[in-house]
Amino acid sequence: PGSQPLRVACIGAGYVGGPTMAVIAAKTPPEAVQVRVLDLSAERIAAWNSERLPIYEPGLSELVFAARGRNLHFSTAIDDGIKWADIIFVAVNTPTKECGIGAGAAADLTYVELAARQIAAAADTPKIVVEKSTVPIRTAEALSAILEACGRTSFEILSNPEFLAEGTAVRDLCEPDRVLIGGDLKTERGRQALEALVELYAYWVPRERILTTNVWSSELSKLVANAFLAQRVSSINSISALCELSGAQIDEVARAVGLDRRIGPRFLQCSVGFGGSCFQKDILNLVYLCESFGLNVVADYWRSVIAINDWQKQRFTARILHSLYNTATNKKIAILGFAFKKDTADTRESAAIDVCGSLLQECAKLSIYDPQVPAEQIWSDLTRRCRRTRDELAAYVTLAATADEAAAGSHAIVILTEWDEFRTLDYSKMYKSMCRPAFLFDGRSVCDLKALSEIGFLCYAIGSPDDSRIQLR
Ligand code: UDX
Ligand code: UDX
Ligand code: ADP
Repeated sequence: PGSQPLRVACIGAGYVGGPTMAVIAAKTPPEAVQVRVLDLSAERIAAWNSERLPIYEPGLSELVFAARGRNLHFSTAIDDGIKWADIIFVAVNTPTKECGIGAGAAADLTYVELAARQIAAAADTPKIVVEKSTVPIRTAEALSAILEACGRTSFEILSNPEFLAEGTAVRDLCEPDRVLIGGDLKTERGRQALEALVELYAYWVPRERILTTNVWSSELSKLVANAFLAQRVSSINSISALCELSGAQIDEVARAVGLDRRIGPRFLQCSVGFGGSCFQKDILNLVYLCESFGLNVVADYWRSVIAINDWQKQRFTARILHSLYNTATNKKIAILGFAFKKDTADTRESAAIDVCGSLLQECAKLSIYDPQVPAEQIWSDLTRRCRRTRDELAAYVTLAATADEAAAGSHAIVILTEWDEFRTLDYSKMYKSMCRPAFLFDGRSVCDLKALSEIGFLCYAIGSPDDSRIQLR
């Protein structure tokens, strides 16, 4: 780097853009790298500039507070930021399309395209544009076409997919397993752009962990990594059903299988179903992509990962209903956890939305407690899922301030997120405040079933043999 600092901008201040830019700023000296994070939403930017950041990630606020104003800046002045930058990351949202061709499967690229058009219109010097949003492969090609057709200057497009997981974003960014950068290896300009991004990451990532590939390999790798991870969860979940009926214990099986070094121990935790903004979306993208190439057998293979996940959620809900003597009507049920996993306030595709939605269809009365998810988010998820207004739902849904409050007077406790605090609740106290018989349904393997049974609970945990139903002896 010369005397001028490298100017890095990022369009989109969400779960990906915010933490990624915070880490880049934290890991680089201000005289060498300056970072501007840009977003359409004035509210989001204001939150990033405040004491209460718009997303919760362990360790994030410390990084942001230290770098903000030094080499990290949040702003809504998007055109300005584009003109200023040497490198522009695009980290806008890419939800699954809700209508039109490919609805429910293809990615909605409206926001990516809009960002591209904004870059093309504002940029007046050559830029390196880095695609960070999870996008189906060949998006870089589309980006490139739009920029070239509408731009007044030249652009190099790189693909740099993000592998961070929510709840561990800062650690994942600071110590990534790998950084993947796709670019045009065939031209000199392409190689130079690649090298510029490699150098940025090399401030804190060992070079051997920075992989460079062609753009398509990079884009596809991201979809495949998430598809493989989701597949592991569906694989263990499929076996959890077999365990319940046959007398094996899923944790014992997972441990035994995971000790095989070729398989490995991670991502073998059975659950009520995976959620999050990426897994389902990326698999659907992969399926859509395979179908568009006529690879129907491959598409069906990956689709089955989602089918198992949907079935796992239904199976869990059906089990609750069956235990409650086949009727949940007007029974109070305590829902513990609404986020799609612990240590995040995010509810996108959370299994809790489906389980709660199905229980509401049975006219159950839900009392929901989650330590992080804002009340507004729960209401908006449930009104959308149930297609009912908030007033209509209010007769059936209350939000509790504590787990104890949710449990009081209920017929059942249902655990849907593995928050640490659920491991150490005073279950005997909760039991005393509940109706009889008192049920507990553990969708996340957080409870000690033996201890709970001794208190008096009738327990059901995913993947644990159910003595009343064991068919093989
Ligand atoms: C396997 C298990 O590895 C072993 O633990 C078990 O006890 C018996 O079954 P084996 O059948 O001897 O052992 O061979 P393995 O090395 O696992 O390969 C099985 C097949 O998968 C082979 O045809 C191999 O070529 C193929 N394979 C393996 C691949 O195509 N790709 C791979 O990445 C790995
Ligand atoms: C995922 C990928 O891990 C990350 O690399 C990618 O960049 C984005 O998608 P994230 O969605 O944040 O990250 O969460 P992750 O920890 O992967 O969990 C996804 C879902 O799978 C959660 O609902 C989690 O509870 C569930 N899960 C995960 C299981 O049910 N069992 C497991 O063993 C692991
Ligand atoms: P992700 O999980 O992919 O980071 P988020 O929804 O958390 O997705 O964040 C995406 C952000 O991108 C949102 O804050 C949204 O306002 C912003 N955004 C979308 N399109 C544009 C655009 N054209 N210009 C600036 N910001 C945008």
